[in-house]
Amino acid sequence: MSISEFDIYTDGACSGNPGPGGWAAVITGDEQVREISGFEERTTNQRMELKAAVEALRVVPPGSRVRLFSDSAYLVNCFNQGWIERWQKNGWLTGKGQPVENQDLWHELLELSRINPVEWIKVKGHSTDRLNQRCDHLARGAITNSSKSETPAKKEGTEGAEEPVRQDREIITGNETKPSALKSGGGKSGVRRLGLLTGGGDCPGLNAVIRAVVKGATYNYNIEVVGFNSGFRGLVENDADLIDDFAVSGILNRGGTILGTSNRDNPFDYRPGGSSDYRETDNDRSGDAVDNLKKWDIEGLVVIGGDGSLLLAHRFCKLGVPIIGIPKTIDNDLPATDITFGFDSAVTTATDAIDKVHTTAESHHRIMVVEVMGRNAGWIALQAGMAGGGDIILIPEVPFEYQFIVDKIMERNRRGKKFSIIVVAEGAYPAGGEPMYQAKGNVKRLGGISSLIAREMENRTDMESRATVLGHLQRGGSPTSYDRVLATRFGVKAVELFREKKYNEMVCLKGNNIESVPLEEAVAGTKRVDPSSEQVRAALAVGTSFGCPI
Ligand code: F6P
Repeated sequence: MSISEFDIYTDGACSGNPGPGGWAAVITGDEQVREISGFEERTTNQRMELKAAVEALRVVPPGSRVRLFSDSAYLVNCFNQGWIERWQKNGWLTGKGQPVENQDLWHELLELSRINPVEWIKVKGHSTDRLNQRCDHLARGAITNSSKSETPAKKEGTEGAEEPVRQDREIITGNETKPSALKSGGGKSGVRRLGLLTGGGDCPGLNAVIRAVVKGATYNYNIEVVGFNSGFRGLVENDADLIDDFAVSGILNRGGTILGTSNRDNPFDYRPGGSSDYRETDNDRSGDAVDNLKKWDIEGLVVIGGDGSLLLAHRFCKLGVPIIGIPKTIDNDLPATDITFGFDSAVTTATDAIDKVHTTAESHHRIMVVEVMGRNAGWIALQAGMAGGGDIILIPEVPFEYQFIVDKIMERNRRGKKFSIIVVAEGAYPAGGEPMYQAKGNVKRLGGISSLIAREMENRTDMESRATVLGHLQRGGSPTSYDRVLATRFGVKAVELFREKKYNEMVCLKGNNIESVPLEEAVAGTKRVDPSSEQVRAALAVGTSFGCPI
């Protein structure tokens, strides 16, 4: 089985689960990637099972092939027997004219199954084959362990009251807090040391956060910082240096990362030289990574990264490495923080580009299609599209229809607006279609949708249409003041967590406060644009089209 193929097993309540519940196990090859389990009172098994399926599908990397096994006819038949299409046609009413239950979850499942094509497989129960039995055993074990260690949350002052006692849980097998694999209390000199690395794609603000960690640690607590070069590669290869405050002087406004980064090097599946070939290897170098941390007398590791790097960081937690995560990505798609740094800078670059493209669109009476990054989330397109006055914004969360876009352009023409700007996220796709990838060896990269749209527009409207792909321009250059400040606040908070030995947490922004959340929350799924959100409604209210009726 290749890395991009996943099996998901789901079920509703099972033995040991005290209420209407759901569980799911995500398996790739012979390895269980993730286990999800939870229950709620006063709901239904069906709903909990759908929830478990949603959570499980969120774990799977975009573009993977998924087989979802379930003994629930409700879940499987809805997809395999065309119930969903019927509901859609009926305005989400059942054959009996009743509103379909659990619509929110069906919508999510639909969306997720577009990102990763799902084969829905009905099974007879969980004793039919070896894999099923194993999965059943694991899931039941997780539920039993968790009910031993948790008592239902009681709200103060509500004992005996009607308030429903709610207990949502997500259990990730093997994530118990382990004794630290590293020495606590500092290096040979008695001074505490933290390790630092930047992983994944670069983004504006990385240097600002490195500076904040180093200055925050050295100035306030005399903590030493060891920087690993080129992301996790430096950790495996022991390519590292002590960084002092002098080394981080003058980098606040610089793009990129002085440490270097990589989105190719996975210590658990390591390809020497950072090869971009994603085929699985059996080269697990995580042990070397841990040994290198020990060699440096490092007590805890600060990982600055997006979802991929934080997932790796989470795997190191399971090996007993004390971790502190700092969220970065231009995509803004991490669920546990309101904003990631890098996003504001990318949006500023994209907005500037849209402003510039406007000039040509207007002068030449053209349709200009601007493609922005963001992977399978539409945050950059939405934000920059609104800020740049895009007439049509296309995001992955709202599959578009070509005719609807054409109608909008024609309506503008009738009102004397002889040009239109379309802002499209790289992960957007037409209804019934799928996101566009450009294959390079075994690597699939999102991209190319803007050219397709421009071609379609030219064919359907007779207006000259051009595509502009902003690409890595959005990741480069100096961070905005917003990102510099956010990165600084994140870096300082990470040092505070290290000082307090509050490990396996990720710093985050909630409202205007810098807080922290358990790392496992940070890696649970993807934050995507809600098409019914106030922001989308505001865009609609000023006449922006999302390429289909919403
Ligand atoms: O996650 C950040 C991001 O820039 C995405 O928006 C984009 O799809 C991807 O990285 C591109 O990655 P790479 O630089 O490896 O091509």
